[in-house]
Amino acid sequence: MNGDVNETMSSIQLLRDRFCKTYAYAGVPEVCRAPGRVNLIGEHTDYNGLPVLPMALRQSVRIAFAPKKNRLIQVRNANPRYADATFQNGPDIPPSPPGDWTNYCKAAVQGLNVHFGVRSYPGMDLLVDADLPAAAGLSSSSAMVVASSLAYLRAIGKTLEKDISRLELAALLASAEHYVGTRGGGMDQAVIINGKAGYACKIDFFPVRTEHVPLLDDHVIVVCDSTVRVEKSGDALHAYNAGPRLSRLATALLEQTAKAEFDDGVQLERIGDLYFGPLCLTHLEVTELCERTFVKPGMILQEAATRLQCTTESIRERWIGDLPEPSEGFPLQARVRHLRTEFRRVEEARDALQAGDPAAVGALMDESHRSCAGDYFISSPELDVLTQAARNAGAVGARLTGAGFGGATVNLVPTTEKDTFIERITASYYRRYLDFNGNVPVFIAEAGDGAGYLPSSAG
Ligand code: GLA
Repeated sequence: MNGDVNETMSSIQLLRDRFCKTYAYAGVPEVCRAPGRVNLIGEHTDYNGLPVLPMALRQSVRIAFAPKKNRLIQVRNANPRYADATFQNGPDIPPSPPGDWTNYCKAAVQGLNVHFGVRSYPGMDLLVDADLPAAAGLSSSSAMVVASSLAYLRAIGKTLEKDISRLELAALLASAEHYVGTRGGGMDQAVIINGKAGYACKIDFFPVRTEHVPLLDDHVIVVCDSTVRVEKSGDALHAYNAGPRLSRLATALLEQTAKAEFDDGVQLERIGDLYFGPLCLTHLEVTELCERTFVKPGMILQEAATRLQCTTESIRERWIGDLPEPSEGFPLQARVRHLRTEFRRVEEARDALQAGDPAAVGALMDESHRSCAGDYFISSPELDVLTQAARNAGAVGARLTGAGFGGATVNLVPTTEKDTFIERITASYYRRYLDFNGNVPVFIAEAGDGAGYLPSSAG
């Protein structure tokens, strides 16, 4: 058992009762949970093969489930906002329209079918419940993928940590989630599966590796929802995918410089390969290589094609698809600067947490926000105002968290100041800037355990 300590037994019992009523089920359904996550630092580095430093939350997606004899998978949500759905399990499950919540369940089922070579395509009934806000940058979507995968592992008779390790499952689900259309990296699935109460999780990729890092004793992590919704597999899909697409083009250009300067046989799959691949370059060497590759802020498509000795059409086909070209060219210089400086910040933040140095962690968070906004273009007016308001309200560090473009911010606040911080941010951002009169969507994030099954005795 893992990850259930924080669940209130009564809410789990309610979910079980509701499942029995919904599906006229006479037995005791199993329940699994997968937490949300908040990223402390390391944004958009994961799909570039560079590390991140998130933590799993106590808030989670929970699914009561029972396997079935036929091939039908029925998905119901305790929240009436999400429509009921039923789909047929099989070798090639057609996705629902982009943004549909059931795609996250389909992604998990399809991914596990492929991984285990499942041919029986069993069905199951699912009832989903969550205390995690959706589209707030807290990864409710990957939590849904992970929880669905735990339910489906039971349906196919497989056991977590015996038939598949946690790290393998994390890597598998990171690619399986591409089914929904977003080309995300592996951060969310890895921390959701491998989180540990009281700890942040430094994660490296290709292959996925995790290291638990203690949090600060005298500071809290406060999450503030900007209230700007970001559906990563809906409206924000293209904005998000610009990251992986332009990174692929930047990698091709860097590979060309590396071939000319080091070795004609060098192949780079992603920017992180400069550090961890055959070249094993230092931070300074990578900086210099990037400066020689991207001498101007913008790279127009024609120039990239000339350098890569191919056509602009083939660049679109191979790397960037239909991304509109800005008149001053794609800002590859700044985007790559974000990635290499953010990598350094993740390592320094891990060291500062280990050394118990809140001022250093806070300064790195502030720097990360500036880099996300100015060099990677993933902030928004609301996120900039909210992070500045947080610093004025007493946060020692504040930054956007997750994909960006909206969603939440993460703030490091001295424990003794937390109430004053919340009062001040309520007044300055929610009441004054947004003119928002409801309950403010702010909470103190506690690092929870990774995903797991709840014991049947729970309730
Ligand atoms: C989303 C993706 C992650 C990661 C973050 C940005 O949450 O799912 O893989 O890329 O955005 O850091």
